[in-house]
Amino acid sequence: MTKTARAYTNIALIKYWGKKDKALKLPYTNSLSLTLDRFYTDTKATIIDSDEDVIYLNNTLLTHTQSKRIVNYLNTIRQFYSFNEHFRIDSINHVPTSAGFASSASGFAALAAAINSSKNLQLDRRHLSILARNGSGSASRSIYGGFVEWNAGTDNESSYAEPIDETPDIDIAILSVVINSQQKKISSTVGMENSVKSSPFYSNWVTLVASEIKEIKQAIAKKDVAKIGEISEHNAMSMHALTLSANPPFTYFAPETLRILQIIQQLRQKGILAYATIDAGPNVKIICTKNSIKTVQKYIEETISNVTCVVANIGSGIQYI
Ligand code: PMV
Repeated sequence: MTKTARAYTNIALIKYWGKKDKALKLPYTNSLSLTLDRFYTDTKATIIDSDEDVIYLNNTLLTHTQSKRIVNYLNTIRQFYSFNEHFRIDSINHVPTSAGFASSASGFAALAAAINSSKNLQLDRRHLSILARNGSGSASRSIYGGFVEWNAGTDNESSYAEPIDETPDIDIAILSVVINSQQKKISSTVGMENSVKSSPFYSNWVTLVASEIKEIKQAIAKKDVAKIGEISEHNAMSMHALTLSANPPFTYFAPETLRILQIIQQLRQKGILAYATIDAGPNVKIICTKNSIKTVQKYIEETISNVTCVVANIGSGIQYI
């Protein structure tokens, strides 16, 4: 029987930023993330007697233009597994744009798992990760819970995510500070491409990621949340340095983004554990402990107006419900 697949969002602590193969979405570097429990996508794929796919997102039928990326992805899957059937896709995104998380990671992970169930492909999690990666790079990591590493690999079969620890006993919590819920102006695909093409620091980034992945894995093993935060923040700032050093330069930061970064530094001076990470948008995710998160949230809400804070904890991998 066809099951609904549920996938959770993840936040990259060591970022994926740059593709060495655009079609296959093979990254230049490994990346490492934490799956979160707060936001998820539920997707069901039903085989239909039609030569076109029909896509419903949040109970609304998408137009041809709106569903293009998903249909292209379904074409890739049909080609991979040599079948011709088309689908009705019903996807409910429990990732409000107002939460400041990208829905592509949970969205494509849930879609890959939904097709796996509908076509009874019986893919193991490695092949599910490979399939999800073909939809969106970061989706490869949402197959697993907890701390996850995506191995860059050299071809379709060798580029997949693997769990580091799916149920870590570690005192970590993520505060998402939402500044601007509007659609980002530069997609991650375009941002990556411009950074790879024109930042003079791109080769340094590749070297840096290799060493930071090693360091953060040691910190995870030691359950050292401060160290995890320190490495994550440095990695995120280095990623954003690639956008500022691209030609022409660009940035995802808004004025409030910098303000929050300053506040985080002030909080640390007061001995409160808080470190920032930022993706391809202006919102800031703050790495905290369960103890520090309340203080951090209160301080941010009191200091900056017009921000929304959302708390998330460690989430699990793909589920069939
Ligand atoms: O998977 P994409 O194309 O949405 O790219 C994700 C890029 C970052 O969120 C900035 C970093 C990451 O590793 O998730």
